[in-house]
Amino acid sequence: MKILVAGSGGREHAILWRLSQDEEKHELYAAPGNAGTASIAVNLPVGAEDIAGITAWAEKERPDLVVVGPEAPLVAGLVDALAAKGIPAFGPVAAGARMEGSKRFAKEIMKAAGVPTGRAETFTDAAAAKAALAGYSLPVVIKADGLAAGKGVVVAETRAEAEKAIDDMLVGNKFGDAGAEVLVEEFLDGEECSILAMTDGETVVLLPSSQDHKRVFDGDKGPNTGGMGAYSPAPVVTDGMLPEIKEKIILPVVRELRRRGVVYRGILYAGLMITPEGGRIAASGSRVNVVEFNARFGDPETEAVLPRLGGNFAKALLHAATGSLDEADIVVKDCVAATVIAASAGYPGAYEKGRKISGLGADGGSTVVFHCGTKAGADGVVTAGGRVLSVTGTGATLREAVDAAYARLAGISFEGMFYRRDIAHRAFERQEAK
Ligand code: AMP
Ligand code: GLY
Repeated sequence: MKILVAGSGGREHAILWRLSQDEEKHELYAAPGNAGTASIAVNLPVGAEDIAGITAWAEKERPDLVVVGPEAPLVAGLVDALAAKGIPAFGPVAAGARMEGSKRFAKEIMKAAGVPTGRAETFTDAAAAKAALAGYSLPVVIKADGLAAGKGVVVAETRAEAEKAIDDMLVGNKFGDAGAEVLVEEFLDGEECSILAMTDGETVVLLPSSQDHKRVFDGDKGPNTGGMGAYSPAPVVTDGMLPEIKEKIILPVVRELRRRGVVYRGILYAGLMITPEGGRIAASGSRVNVVEFNARFGDPETEAVLPRLGGNFAKALLHAATGSLDEADIVVKDCVAATVIAASAGYPGAYEKGRKISGLGADGGSTVVFHCGTKAGADGVVTAGGRVLSVTGTGATLREAVDAAYARLAGISFEGMFYRRDIAHRAFERQEAK
């Protein structure tokens, strides 16, 4: 098949890499891709958010499928634009991508569909939002409605902190239009995990569970990032929870969207909070609650989940994109995967680019290096982002997978490189507790 993947991060490299592992050989393109995707695909000089550019290329080149990686082009209507030209695309139309693009909309759908989630209210007026705080215990969560590059959520420990977050968004315009509405939301206690559900708007297939590490430093300290590592499966999600997640969370959302005329195709990513054993969230009466939905594959979850998928991946994506997911053959391999992000000093704040990366070597055996923020320099690959590489190890056990990833990472270096040393610590703690 001829396939274009839009995006330039580790997620997109992992999607292209997994496509390159299919028995059937594909003709692969990336828009714009990075130094890693260049070894398995043709990088096009077109940005992922350049809807006119991608659509023009697709109209001329007639790919069998376009896979959209990041949320911004989904929310902006790239899939709608491709559909108008008769090009199949993996990813929801803009009306479906609102599940990620508007937290208010996602709450409205969840409420209508009876999906377990924290209680929340939406405000445009700061005084009204502050008055509502009286109805919530601390900590309380303040969220910008729209896309804020992962920065629009404040978990406030005190009322003053919550009031400041409300003022920052509604009065100070900290996130522009994305923060013109805010949600005041009940805090959910527990352990987070990610479920990537593939759907064609009717059939739903849950991909293997995973957990990412959002904080920058070991021990889950420091500011939130896009994710510093991930592993799959996540033992906090028991096999017993999976049918409930499918029947009570994913399917009701997909059906509620369809009832409103939106056929959701692609990945519906549920960020879930699993409350400690014996506990449940009062408002929903459930142990498993939705923190957020995303309209795409997670990054870095994808770098840990896709190496575990067998079968013809391109066909599975095409089936989802064209409404025949019931015919897809998605096989999960009996192995564990862990991925560790190597980041640039300063990330998630300001950082330098253009540092030469050494020791990349060749993939093989039980590891693969996905490029997140790299580009080809005059004499080799250089850094081009905060998250630079995502190094994945696989093995029969979590220990093997994690050790493989760290061993590979030990041979790689660039000035200012740092990474978390405790990826999968929650799963190891769980094993020790047993
Ligand atoms: P989001 O952008 O919605 O994924 O939120 C970012 C992070 O904030 C989540 O991954 C959680 O760690 C945290 N968070 C968001 N909402 C809640 C909530 N209701 N209770 C506890 N933590 C939350
Ligand atoms: N790893 C979190 C995300 O992709 O949103």
